[in-house]
Amino acid sequence: MKREYAEIPPSMAGMQTYGFSWMDFVSAIPSPLFIVSSYKSNGKPNACLQSWACFNGGEKGFYAILSSVNKKGHLYQTLKERGEAVLNFPSAEIYALCEKTIQNNGFDDDEIALSGLTAEPAALVDAPRIRECFLNLECRYLWEREIVAGTDHALVCLEVVNLCADEAHLNESALGRYGESGYLYNVHYPVDPESFAGRSQDWLAILQKHKSNGEY
Ligand SMILES: Cc1cc2nc3c(=O)[nH]c(=O)nc-3n(C[C@H](O)[C@H](O)[C@H](O)COP(=O)(O)O)c2cc1C
Repeated sequence: MKREYAEIPPSMAGMQTYGFSWMDFVSAIPSPLFIVSSYKSNGKPNACLQSWACFNGGEKGFYAILSSVNKKGHLYQTLKERGEAVLNFPSAEIYALCEKTIQNNGFDDDEIALSGLTAEPAALVDAPRIRECFLNLECRYLWEREIVAGTDHALVCLEVVNLCADEAHLNESALGRYGESGYLYNVHYPVDPESFAGRSQDWLAILQKHKSNGEY
């Protein structure tokens, strides 16, 4: 049996949503997790843990759509100032360090070093890369939109101009990109809207490959 929800379910009425829609928690659609690194105006490395993003490749290029960048954060500011950043994809092994970037968020902080990670120069853009991440996407700012007028978060489109990846992760017979050593996902508090009792804390996930369905 399927259920319909156009209004917030009664069991979720008192839920702390931290500014998110209740539909976030009922759909709990996975979104990839990564750190966006850039330089602040004082030259210090900035690190912003991000989710709510998708990626689009076409004839003209490969693009990252960050769908919810806080306009009051350093990341947004640095994108305005320098127009370049790196998307760094961590595996679960270093997630605890990635989380530390949220506490090490002072303007004068080297947010990467203080969190126990290593900054290295990107190849093509004016932004640091994080060495411990298995994939780094070097990006240039293209454009931004407000999903609805007047929101405090922007949807930002970046063009990926260089890709740097660990060879053991590129080889699916070695570490690969999925499972325990691969991409991390934010599943953002999946709740049962019929019986939510204020306890959902689950939000970190990995992707398990389905059995192979052929060559292409
Ligand atoms: C799992 C997770 C996902 C996040 N995703 C986003 C996001 O998509 N957009 C955003 O603006 N902040 C996001 N944040 C919050 C930022 O990481 C946090 O506010 C950060 O300190 C802001 O850094 P900045 O000032 O360098 O921009 C997320 C935090 C966590 C824990």
